Amino acid sequence: MDSKTSPEILRLSEVTKTFRQSRSFFSGTKKIVTALNRVSFHIHKGEIFGLIGESGSGKSTAGRLIVHLDRPDSGKIYLNQKEITRLPGRAFRPLRSRVQMIFQDPYQSLNPQLSVFEAVEEPLVVHGKGKRARREDRVVEILDAVRLRPPERFFYRFPHQLSGGQRQRVAIARAMVLNPELVVADEPTSMLDASISIQIFDILLRLREDLDVTFLFISHSLAAAHYLCDRIGVIFRGHLVETGEGKAVITRPGHPYTQALMDALPRFACGEKGRRYNALLNTRRKPPAPSGCPFYPRCAKGKASLCSAHAPPFKEIEAGHQVACFLAG
Ligand SMILES: Nc1ncnc2c1ncn2[C@@H]1O[C@H](COP(=O)(O)OP(=O)(O)OP(=O)(O)O)[C@@H](O)[C@H]1O
Ligand SMILES: [Mg+2]
Repeated sequence: MDSKTSPEILRLSEVTKTFRQSRSFFSGTKKIVTALNRVSFHIHKGEIFGLIGESGSGKSTAGRLIVHLDRPDSGKIYLNQKEITRLPGRAFRPLRSRVQMIFQDPYQSLNPQLSVFEAVEEPLVVHGKGKRARREDRVVEILDAVRLRPPERFFYRFPHQLSGGQRQRVAIARAMVLNPELVVADEPTSMLDASISIQIFDILLRLREDLDVTFLFISHSLAAAHYLCDRIGVIFRGHLVETGEGKAVITRPGHPYTQALMDALPRFACGEKGRRYNALLNTRRKPPAPSGCPFYPRCAKGKASLCSAHAPPFKEIEAGHQVACFLAG
């Protein structure tokens, strides 16, 4: 099925999430941090959608809301056109096997005391799937799918007896063993070197083909998203600032933040001064009014009367490519 014409599997509509953080270790007062600010995007069945942004931009928060590890303050989340925003735990339980998450650090999702076989079998046991022999067949099948071969050789190894890449493959196998429809992969390769990362990307691509799964791929890297993603959403401090087809966003970035990220890739700007990536280093101006553009303090093009006072609406700069910037296009 062509992912562009396939039905929507996930939609976030105006999702906001705030956290209360202590100002300091000794302070009793709290400040409110807006991790996501009215974020909206959708993913089609069979797509790999990349959510890209710098550290602290709200990517993992979005992932956690989607897999129901947390609830938004406002806005709505739909899975297969059914609203799941505030489903109570018991009502979400049947959906849990259909929506899984792969974490950045496999130690977060792998119990060091469980062998590879036990770790990958556990979700089947918890969800009451199959008899022991059938479960073993499924574990073999899925370890093979993540290229841990021959699978039986890995059954009785523990996480500390695996390389980082092998450990992440076990975490992927554990997320995939229930045959989910949607998987949130939260920076699955950020702890791995470049060649192992590419192997993991190829495994994700193959899983998408073979198991008909949809991925939300979370990363700080536009280069990784370019390799893997059909569509990309760029997020800056909790605001989605650009969405579009991967190729369009990478080759014709419309938002100054995306342009800065592109220039920051070493192969695009080897040590040149005055490039747009300076926007990633500088805070040039006073913060905008709460209703202003979140990128205004760093933006070289921003206009005080416009950008610091008003929120830029999304505008379409080409078919399917939208940018939240007054000055784009
Ligand atoms: N449980 C929490 N309690 C308080 N603040 C939180 C919590 N979770 C996230 N935040 C804050 O929300 C903001 C977004 O965090 P989030 O983890 O979603 O960012 P991220 O884009 O995943 O960053 P990274 O790339 O470093 O993983 C940050 O300012 C973070 O400090
Ligand atoms: Mg994160």
